[in-house]
Amino acid sequence: MANNEDQFKKVVSHAKEYGYVFQSSEIYDGLSAVYDYAQNGVELKKNIRNYWWKAMVQMHENIVGLDAAIFMHPTTWKASGHVDAFNDPLIDNKDSKKRYRADVLIEDYVGKLDTKIEKEVAKAAKRFGEAFNKEEFLATNPRVIGYKEKGDAILQRMGKSLENEDLADVKLLIEELGIGCPLSGSKNWTDVKQFNLMFGTKLGASADTAMDLYLRPETAQGIFVNFSNVQKTGRMKIPFGIAQTGKAFRNEIVARQFIFRMREFEQMEMQFFVRPGTQKEWYEKWKENRLKWHLSLGMGEDNYRFHDHEKLAHYADAASDIEFRFPFGFKELEGIHSRTDFDLKAHEEHSGKKLQYFDPEINEHYVPYVVETSIGLDRMFLAVFSNSLQEEELENGSTRTVLKLPSVLAPTKAAILPLVKKDGLPEVARKIVEDLKWDFNVTYDEKDAVGRRYRRQDAAGTPFCITVDHDTLNDNSVTIRYRDTMEQKRVKIEELRSIIKEDVDVKNWLMKM
Ligand code: GAP
Repeated sequence: MANNEDQFKKVVSHAKEYGYVFQSSEIYDGLSAVYDYAQNGVELKKNIRNYWWKAMVQMHENIVGLDAAIFMHPTTWKASGHVDAFNDPLIDNKDSKKRYRADVLIEDYVGKLDTKIEKEVAKAAKRFGEAFNKEEFLATNPRVIGYKEKGDAILQRMGKSLENEDLADVKLLIEELGIGCPLSGSKNWTDVKQFNLMFGTKLGASADTAMDLYLRPETAQGIFVNFSNVQKTGRMKIPFGIAQTGKAFRNEIVARQFIFRMREFEQMEMQFFVRPGTQKEWYEKWKENRLKWHLSLGMGEDNYRFHDHEKLAHYADAASDIEFRFPFGFKELEGIHSRTDFDLKAHEEHSGKKLQYFDPEINEHYVPYVVETSIGLDRMFLAVFSNSLQEEELENGSTRTVLKLPSVLAPTKAAILPLVKKDGLPEVARKIVEDLKWDFNVTYDEKDAVGRRYRRQDAAGTPFCITVDHDTLNDNSVTIRYRDTMEQKRVKIEELRSIIKEDVDVKNWLMKM
């Protein structure tokens, strides 16, 4: 899908119409930046989670899982730095009264420079045809170099100012770039202020004894505080990882772009504990590994890029995002962070408990360093969903809407359709459903003409339609139709399981890594 607002609107409305994502509490006009996953959405989300879990936990002997509680002792967040430093720089527009993240305004400005570069590339590719060399063009075209240098300089200055808490310079940068309010265009800005993103709540019944708690803003801390428990009980040897998936909560200032930035969301994180001094090597390895995981889904190499951070979080010595081309441009999908020994050391200090490892190979105790991979499940959902939604022109001049989800992730793998609702065809179709449902999520559909049913399943993202017709009664064969190519084949009923399995099996997809 092309990169524009209309396409994004289509993504949002399709997600609702086909039972993927609903606004939370919609009957009360919804709750901003909170969403519910509907009958298809919950399956897609579960399949993405499983695909991650298989690749990260079950395929690695030295990575184990964890499911830590959302509530944690409040000192956790003091130690982790979230109480003091988990802030976003916000700025208000005095005329429109709208509030923005100052860094996002600046990054969006740089994003526009990136779009200009992409346009130059597309123009040149058209002009030079087969002879076009993208790398050479990017490295030599003066206009492209100009845009790139300007963008880099802006991000560098912003990074430095934020690191030095020089919020006045962040405002100055917005003014110098002439950035206006995206809604009203007004350039009448307040000063930039810091805003803590954690949600607070209380534990306990009586007002005077109740304890102030936070809803966790990342799952990672549940892993750090359990480092020694897991290492000892699992007899884990460094290097090893602990992974978990679960909800996180952030009081986002700029909550927009559907499920891209939510206030309640799910993360899939893995903390990899390594010997100090080896973190750089592991950081590079995990960057490469995570990109391969994304590419295994076949959503197009050109849709991913790394963005190395200029501004490092308080805990990191290196950090990079895997960015994905969303309908609104390239944005962060996953972060890979070299977190040093910051977290474990901080928890040692605040808890008074040792969080160290005895390394028999070098006969030394040390606090391990950590390389983390952290991806938002909802953001991954949006990447997959938006990339898959396509409008196709057909040979007969009509168009079809098709959700070309990677079949390993598709909520329903096959729809079983009796050609007509009589003559014993529904009974045969039901029998196929009963048989296949042990292995796959399948559905039965007998309503409307078969062509309409095909279109409905195309739009819902079902990779296979299996039609039972009158010949089936004699030859035990059915028509299998492939969503992406619309190819139809006659196959025996007993072949169905292996045809579907071959196509949707996690192993076959992950082997592409
Ligand atoms: N433990 C490290 C950490 O939390 P992060 O970059 O703040 O790092 C990691 O978050 C990932 O979580 C992001 O790359 C993004 O995919 C996802 N994420 C963060 N904030 C989110 C939000 N408000 N809504 C949806 N996903 C979010």
